[in-house]
Amino acid sequence: MKFRENISRIAFSEEQIAARVDELAARISKDYAHQQLYLIVILKGAMVFVADLIRRIKDVDLNVDFMVVSSYGGGTRSTGKVRIVKDLQKNIEGRHALIIEDIVDTGLTMNYLRKILYDREPRSLATCSLLSKPSCRKIEVPIEYLGFEIPDEFVVGYGLDYDQGYRQLPFIGVLKPEVYGGQA
Ligand code: PRP
Repeated sequence: MKFRENISRIAFSEEQIAARVDELAARISKDYAHQQLYLIVILKGAMVFVADLIRRIKDVDLNVDFMVVSSYGGGTRSTGKVRIVKDLQKNIEGRHALIIEDIVDTGLTMNYLRKILYDREPRSLATCSLLSKPSCRKIEVPIEYLGFEIPDEFVVGYGLDYDQGYRQLPFIGVLKPEVYGGQA
Protein backbone atom coordinates (compact mmCIF):
# COMPACT_ATOMS: atom_id res chain seq x y z
CA MET A 1 0.00 0.00 0.00
CA LYS A 2 1.41 3.32 -1.07
CA PHE A 3 0.40 5.25 2.03
CA ARG A 4 2.65 3.07 4.22
CA GLU A 5 5.51 5.13 2.78
CA ASN A 6 4.09 8.07 4.74
CA ILE A 7 4.68 6.29 8.05
CA SER A 8 8.05 7.07 9.66
CA ARG A 9 7.93 4.26 12.24
CA ILE A 10 5.63 1.86 14.00
CA ALA A 11 4.73 3.19 17.44
CA PHE A 12 2.82 0.05 18.51
CA SER A 13 2.75 -3.22 16.61
CA GLU A 14 -0.31 -5.45 16.22
CA GLU A 15 1.13 -7.73 18.90
CA GLN A 16 1.81 -4.90 21.36
CA ILE A 17 -1.72 -3.55 20.87
CA ALA A 18 -3.30 -6.98 21.29
CA ALA A 19 -1.40 -7.60 24.53
CA ARG A 20 -2.45 -4.23 25.96
CA VAL A 21 -6.07 -4.66 24.87
CA ASP A 22 -6.04 -8.03 26.67
CA GLU A 23 -4.88 -6.32 29.87
CA LEU A 24 -7.49 -3.58 29.63
CA ALA A 25 -10.24 -6.14 28.95
CA ALA A 26 -9.14 -8.18 31.96
CA ARG A 27 -9.31 -5.13 34.24
CA ILE A 28 -12.74 -4.12 32.92
CA SER A 29 -13.96 -7.73 33.28
CA LYS A 30 -12.82 -7.74 36.90
CA ASP A 31 -14.14 -4.30 37.82
CA TYR A 32 -17.61 -4.84 36.32
CA ALA A 33 -17.89 -8.62 36.87
CA HIS A 34 -21.48 -9.89 36.58
CA GLN A 35 -22.84 -6.36 36.17
CA GLN A 36 -24.40 -4.45 33.31
CA LEU A 37 -22.12 -1.98 31.55
CA TYR A 38 -23.11 0.56 28.93
CA LEU A 39 -20.24 1.24 26.53
CA ILE A 40 -20.30 4.67 24.93
CA VAL A 41 -18.12 4.44 21.85
CA ILE A 42 -16.98 7.73 20.36
CA LEU A 43 -16.85 7.38 16.59
CA LYS A 44 -15.07 7.09 14.38
CA GLY A 45 -11.60 6.57 15.82
CA ALA A 46 -12.56 4.09 18.57
CA MET A 47 -14.28 1.61 16.24
CA VAL A 48 -11.34 -0.76 15.75
CA PHE A 49 -10.28 -0.62 19.40
CA VAL A 50 -13.76 -1.38 20.71
CA ALA A 51 -14.27 -4.25 18.27
CA ASP A 52 -11.22 -5.97 19.72
CA LEU A 53 -11.90 -4.92 23.33
CA ILE A 54 -15.48 -6.21 23.62
CA ARG A 55 -14.52 -9.66 22.33
CA ARG A 56 -12.05 -9.99 25.19
CA ILE A 57 -14.33 -8.79 28.00
CA LYS A 58 -15.74 -11.76 29.94
CA ASP A 59 -18.71 -12.12 32.30
CA VAL A 60 -19.93 -8.54 31.88
CA ASP A 61 -23.38 -7.83 30.45
CA LEU A 62 -22.37 -5.30 27.77
CA ASN A 63 -24.49 -2.87 25.82
CA VAL A 64 -22.69 -0.97 23.06
CA ASP A 65 -23.86 2.42 21.87
CA PHE A 66 -22.25 5.12 19.77
CA MET A 67 -21.84 8.87 19.82
CA VAL A 68 -20.47 11.09 17.12
CA VAL A 69 -19.08 14.40 18.28
CA SER A 70 -17.47 17.08 16.24
CA SER A 71 -15.25 19.91 17.38
CA TYR A 72 -15.77 23.26 15.76
CA GLY A 73 -12.85 24.78 13.94
CA GLY A 74 -11.55 21.70 12.11
CA GLY A 75 -7.84 21.24 11.52
CA THR A 76 -5.79 18.65 13.39
CA ARG A 77 -6.40 20.20 16.85
CA SER A 78 -9.72 20.36 18.62
CA THR A 79 -10.98 23.74 19.77
CA GLY A 80 -12.96 22.63 22.82
CA LYS A 81 -16.28 23.67 21.35
CA VAL A 82 -17.92 20.30 20.84
CA ARG A 83 -21.19 19.51 19.09
CA ILE A 84 -23.14 16.25 19.33
CA VAL A 85 -23.70 14.95 15.81
CA LYS A 86 -25.22 11.63 16.92
CA ASP A 87 -26.42 10.95 20.45
CA LEU A 88 -26.94 7.71 22.41
CA GLN A 89 -30.04 5.62 21.76
CA LYS A 90 -30.78 4.96 25.43
CA ASN A 91 -30.85 6.89 28.67
CA ILE A 92 -27.81 6.09 30.87
CA GLU A 93 -29.49 7.16 34.12
CA GLY A 94 -28.72 4.60 36.84
CA ARG A 95 -26.39 2.56 34.63
CA HIS A 96 -22.66 1.92 34.80
CA ALA A 97 -21.26 3.76 31.77
CA LEU A 98 -17.81 3.56 30.19
CA ILE A 99 -16.67 5.98 27.49
CA ILE A 100 -14.46 4.37 24.84
CA GLU A 101 -12.06 6.67 22.97
CA ASP A 102 -9.10 6.14 20.68
CA ILE A 103 -7.12 9.13 21.95
CA VAL A 104 -7.20 11.92 24.50
CA ASP A 105 -5.12 14.82 23.24
CA THR A 106 -5.98 18.28 24.64
CA GLY A 107 -8.65 16.63 26.81
CA LEU A 108 -11.27 19.15 25.65
CA THR A 109 -13.49 16.57 23.94
CA MET A 110 -13.36 14.20 26.93
CA ASN A 111 -13.97 17.02 29.40
CA TYR A 112 -17.08 18.03 27.48
CA LEU A 113 -18.28 14.43 27.14
CA ARG A 114 -17.86 13.62 30.82
CA LYS A 115 -19.70 16.78 31.79
CA ILE A 116 -22.75 16.19 29.61
CA LEU A 117 -22.86 12.47 30.45
CA TYR A 118 -22.60 13.09 34.22
CA ASP A 119 -25.61 15.37 33.91
CA ARG A 120 -27.58 12.32 32.75
CA GLU A 121 -26.96 10.75 36.19
CA PRO A 122 -25.33 7.40 35.41
CA ARG A 123 -24.64 5.07 38.34
CA SER A 124 -20.94 5.42 37.48
CA LEU A 125 -18.96 6.96 34.65
CA ALA A 126 -15.41 6.08 33.59
CA THR A 127 -13.16 6.48 30.57
CA CYS A 128 -11.19 3.94 28.57
CA SER A 129 -8.82 5.39 25.98
CA LEU A 130 -6.34 3.49 23.89
CA LEU A 131 -3.93 6.44 23.71
CA SER A 132 -3.17 9.61 25.63
CA LYS A 133 -0.89 12.55 24.81
CA PRO A 134 -0.35 14.10 28.26
CA SER A 135 2.00 16.80 26.96
CA CYS A 136 -0.88 18.24 24.87
CA ARG A 137 -3.41 18.59 27.71
CA LYS A 138 -5.28 21.85 28.03
CA ILE A 139 -7.53 20.44 30.72
CA GLU A 140 -6.97 17.48 33.04
CA VAL A 141 -9.38 14.60 32.60
CA PRO A 142 -9.37 11.24 34.34
CA ILE A 143 -8.65 8.14 32.21
CA GLU A 144 -9.44 5.11 34.35
CA TYR A 145 -8.38 2.60 31.69
CA LEU A 146 -5.47 3.74 29.51
CA GLY A 147 -3.67 1.78 26.80
CA PHE A 148 -0.54 3.80 26.10
CA GLU A 149 0.88 7.26 26.71
CA ILE A 150 2.50 8.76 23.63
CA PRO A 151 4.59 11.87 22.92
CA ASP A 152 3.31 14.71 20.76
CA GLU A 153 3.52 12.86 17.46
CA PHE A 154 0.84 12.43 14.80
CA VAL A 155 -0.24 8.80 14.97
CA VAL A 156 -2.49 6.91 12.57
CA GLY A 157 -3.81 3.40 12.12
CA TYR A 158 -5.89 0.99 14.26
CA GLY A 159 -8.84 3.36 13.79
CA LEU A 160 -6.94 6.65 13.97
CA ASP A 161 -7.00 8.78 10.85
CA TYR A 162 -5.31 11.54 8.99
CA ASP A 163 -7.82 13.26 6.73
CA GLN A 164 -10.06 10.17 7.09
CA GLY A 165 -7.36 7.85 5.71
CA TYR A 166 -5.05 5.26 7.34
CA ARG A 167 -7.72 3.92 9.73
CA GLN A 168 -7.37 0.34 8.44
CA LEU A 169 -3.70 -0.08 9.31
CA PRO A 170 -3.41 -2.95 11.83
CA PHE A 171 -0.66 -1.14 13.76
CA ILE A 172 -0.28 2.40 15.13
CA GLY A 173 2.25 4.34 13.09
CA VAL A 174 3.82 7.78 13.27
CA LEU A 175 2.96 9.94 10.28
CA LYS A 176 5.85 11.77 8.64
CA PRO A 177 5.54 15.50 9.44
CA GLU A 178 5.79 16.47 5.76
CA VAL A 179 2.50 14.60 5.14
CA TYR A 180 0.44 16.79 7.49
CA GLY A 181 2.47 19.98 7.43
CA GLY A 182 4.37 19.47 10.69
CA GLN A 183 1.74 20.62 13.21
CA ALA A 184 0.66 17.45 15.07
C1 PRP B 1 -10.23 12.58 18.09
C2 PRP B 1 -10.43 11.59 19.22
C3 PRP B 1 -11.15 12.42 20.24
C4 PRP B 1 -10.57 13.80 20.03
C5 PRP B 1 -9.50 14.02 21.05
O1 PRP B 1 -11.37 12.60 17.29
O2 PRP B 1 -11.20 10.49 18.81
O3 PRP B 1 -12.55 12.41 20.06
O4 PRP B 1 -10.01 13.83 18.72
O5 PRP B 1 -8.97 15.30 20.94
P1 PRP B 1 -8.91 16.32 22.16
O6 PRP B 1 -8.47 15.59 23.38
O7 PRP B 1 -7.88 17.34 21.69
O8 PRP B 1 -10.27 16.95 22.31
P2 PRP B 1 -11.40 13.19 15.82
O9 PRP B 1 -11.94 14.58 15.87
O10 PRP B 1 -10.07 13.01 15.16
O11 PRP B 1 -12.52 12.30 15.10
P3 PRP B 1 -12.51 10.75 14.69
O12 PRP B 1 -12.57 9.95 15.97
O13 PRP B 1 -13.75 10.61 13.87
O14 PRP B 1 -11.25 10.48 13.90
